[in-house]
Amino acid sequence: MPIKVNGSPVPLPSDPRVSLLDLLREQLHLPGTKKGCNQGACGACTVLVDGERIVSCLALAVQYDGREVVTVEGLVENGVLHPLQGAFVEHDGFQCGYCTPGQICSAIGMATEIGRGVPSHVTVDLSTDVITLDRDELRERMSGNLCRCGAHNGIVDAILEVYAEAAE
Ligand code: FES
Ligand code: FES
Repeated sequence: MPIKVNGSPVPLPSDPRVSLLDLLREQLHLPGTKKGCNQGACGACTVLVDGERIVSCLALAVQYDGREVVTVEGLVENGVLHPLQGAFVEHDGFQCGYCTPGQICSAIGMATEIGRGVPSHVTVDLSTDVITLDRDELRERMSGNLCRCGAHNGIVDAILEVYAEAAE
């Protein structure tokens, strides 16, 4: 079975050493997903696989046979930005923009994790199914996505606007 990328089936690479990141960027010409460290430390290459966030630089493309991959390009529907993309623009959640696609995909995956009641290192009540996305939770859960420009305050505001309107 092929991998599906942004809704379209694509063939697996013939070389099993090709990372998912390189498949996206070099073979499918989807440059939205960025290569930062290429070793799992910066989060710039984050994409969604079956709705879960992963760092695509550490993933071999052949492992994702039959899976559904969504990149930042796939978040736009009929020319309309995903609400989180709009919120990043609204809150100046970027400067150079290099980390932004990874931040956005990661935040979407994070929201799904919170919705499933998955606790983080800073969750106080581990027995609850309802986790409030406050600033501490958000910072902890997004700590794998670095921003060298220091746009973190705008990033936090954008994510809170979309996923935690009631948070402080
Ligand atoms: Fe994948 Fe940095 S490029 S985590
Ligand atoms: Fe430049 Fe985040 S906006 S690295």
